[in-house]
Amino acid sequence: MDARQVKLPLDNIEGEDTENASSSLNEILFQVECPKRYGQPVDITACQKCKHFVETATSSIKCSFIRPLRQPRENNTMNELEGNEWLFFTKSVLRTSYRSEYGHKLRKKHYANKPPRLMKHIIEFFTKSGQRVLDPFAGVGGTLIGASLCGRKATGIEIEKKWIDTYHEVCKSEGIDTQEMVVGDCREVLREFADEGRIFDHITTDPPYSIALEKTMCTDKYKKDWQQRRTNFDKFSDDSRDLRNLQTFDEYYDAMEEVGKLLSPVLKEKGYLSMIIRDSYYEGEYLPVAYELGERMKNVGFVLKGIKIWYGTGARVRPYGYPYSYVPNIVHQNIIILRKGK
Ligand SMILES: C[S@@+](CC[C@H](N)C(=O)[O-])C[C@H]1O[C@@H](n2cnc3c(N)ncnc32)[C@H](O)[C@@H]1O
Repeated sequence: MDARQVKLPLDNIEGEDTENASSSLNEILFQVECPKRYGQPVDITACQKCKHFVETATSSIKCSFIRPLRQPRENNTMNELEGNEWLFFTKSVLRTSYRSEYGHKLRKKHYANKPPRLMKHIIEFFTKSGQRVLDPFAGVGGTLIGASLCGRKATGIEIEKKWIDTYHEVCKSEGIDTQEMVVGDCREVLREFADEGRIFDHITTDPPYSIALEKTMCTDKYKKDWQQRRTNFDKFSDDSRDLRNLQTFDEYYDAMEEVGKLLSPVLKEKGYLSMIIRDSYYEGEYLPVAYELGERMKNVGFVLKGIKIWYGTGARVRPYGYPYSYVPNIVHQNIIILRKGK
């Protein structure tokens, strides 16, 4: 078998807060993406004990493992995955440490860009090649790039034109074919899509998680040092239609319920909607935002099928509460999976 190169170590981890990924409070990241475990990170010491481990050089490990190619079952109506890949996706926890790639240097200007490989992983479960994917909160195009990586067609809607411009810049510099991006408030655009009879096979999105982050992060004496300590961080828009600018969580849940209602007519029957949502900690209380949204989506015809916890290693931690009280460092995000009808 041919030896395969595995990057070591993962110097720039992609995901939320990536520009701040290294912190003295973070765990020491010395991990490699293991081909045997679908690219999941493994500890370097565990890797060295594996029988597929070949050798280390200063910047790489050689791994002799090659996953045997298996064909998907002919009666698979969902996707093109073989059995093991299917089972792997259904696990309720996903741990990743994607390296900086696919124009991440440009995309990280966006406060919440998502790794294209994460989006590809989701899209590949819920669609087959050539099918259509929609992202109503597209940002700098994590979903669209993910769709391009696996040969799906995708449409994004984004309220801020500058993020669409960044997406186009990324595609140009990375040689990725551009997908359809529409600028505007998704609530207006979705009404137009429904009038035009447009139907998508899967909707996957990473909506604004909640009302503005400034109000949900630490306060008091830690505020100066820890709040918004971001180097190349772009502030939110002033657009009142931007869901981030809503004033209360109730307004936010109402707006998201309205979005859900508008998504239903453009999703195929029995199609799936997946949403990446971060829970919040606000005024001394944990808010299970993902769960709330799952409940709200039930009001508009969706069935909650599962919540997958996504942990991107490298999420930073802050000393909230220390040394007086328990305040969580919310380092995971929830991928909620809903279906249109049972
Ligand atoms: C969490 S970010 C999505 C990031 C995206 N997944 C990426 O990889 O870049 C949410 C996006 O929704 C956009 N947004 C907020 N309100 C919107 C609205 N009413 N219609 C469309 N987009 C909106 C924001 O500008 C922001 O870019």
